[in-house]
Amino acid sequence: MAWEYSEKTRQIFMDAVHGKPGTHLGEVENADGFGEHGSIVCGDALRFTFRVQRHASDPLQDVITEARYLTFGCTSAIAASEALCTLIEQGHFTPIGALQITNQEIVKFLGGLPAQKIHCSVMGAEALEAAVFNWAQKRGVDLAQNGVHLKDKGEDEGRIVCKCFSMTEPYIRRKIKELNLRTIAEITGAIKAGGACGSCHHAPGGLQDLLDEVWGRKPSTEAVPAPAAASATDAPLSPIQIYKKIEKTIDEFIRPALHHDGGDLEVVDVKDNIVYCRLSGACVGCPGANATLKLMVERTLKDKVDANLKVIAV
Ligand code: FES
Repeated sequence: MAWEYSEKTRQIFMDAVHGKPGTHLGEVENADGFGEHGSIVCGDALRFTFRVQRHASDPLQDVITEARYLTFGCTSAIAASEALCTLIEQGHFTPIGALQITNQEIVKFLGGLPAQKIHCSVMGAEALEAAVFNWAQKRGVDLAQNGVHLKDKGEDEGRIVCKCFSMTEPYIRRKIKELNLRTIAEITGAIKAGGACGSCHHAPGGLQDLLDEVWGRKPSTEAVPAPAAASATDAPLSPIQIYKKIEKTIDEFIRPALHHDGGDLEVVDVKDNIVYCRLSGACVGCPGANATLKLMVERTLKDKVDANLKVIAV
């Protein structure tokens, strides 16, 4: 699947990967602010670092002079990170001031992003928050006293709602509010939760329930879809039954998630509980491809087909 990127996004991406002067791919040494965000499960992870010009007496007047990022991600992750760094440097922001940059501004700077790639702009804002948190600790700034209430990682810990992307209830609830997300599709577009097997959509305490709680809607009276696959504790299956079940699970749960990111998967062979697979499309060459196979594909097959299955890339 080819994504419809704006001309500006494509250009920013090309400039960044070729290291054109003025671009920001890299890391600030001995950074004043250091933050990370993302999940290696889906190949998206971002490290954000910045340097400030320190004010002699008032750290609140520190100004960011240099911003850099490292990312395991695709075109949009790189372009959105570039946009964030450029906006910060050109705006001569203080670290606290930089938090005012929204993901909508990043998307606007890029001339738009496909809806399925909005999460890349959200990821940059999260990494920036973490870096500002780190700067505040180093500079002895009490963010809360200055009206800034950042979430540290501990506050996002809790019950896992979306197993495929390891996303917790506090984190998803927070992003629903912050980004004004109104549907499951919007949640998936913004933070990826719900974008793989889909079993977290309508499960009790799942994405729809969180939406209903946050926005005060009545619980849906629609029938909740029954689990689409039998548990891994069913009676032993013959090799041909296992093969068919693997294909069915890939079609129903795995392929849609890979298509979401422009990739695909082919089963080459199944032997002695080992599923030999080949990723294709946008997954080829992706730094997160192995993690996707082991953490997303293998986990889903173990969950839906047989707990003894292992996945190997060929
Ligand atoms: S558990 Fe959320 S997409 Fe699979």
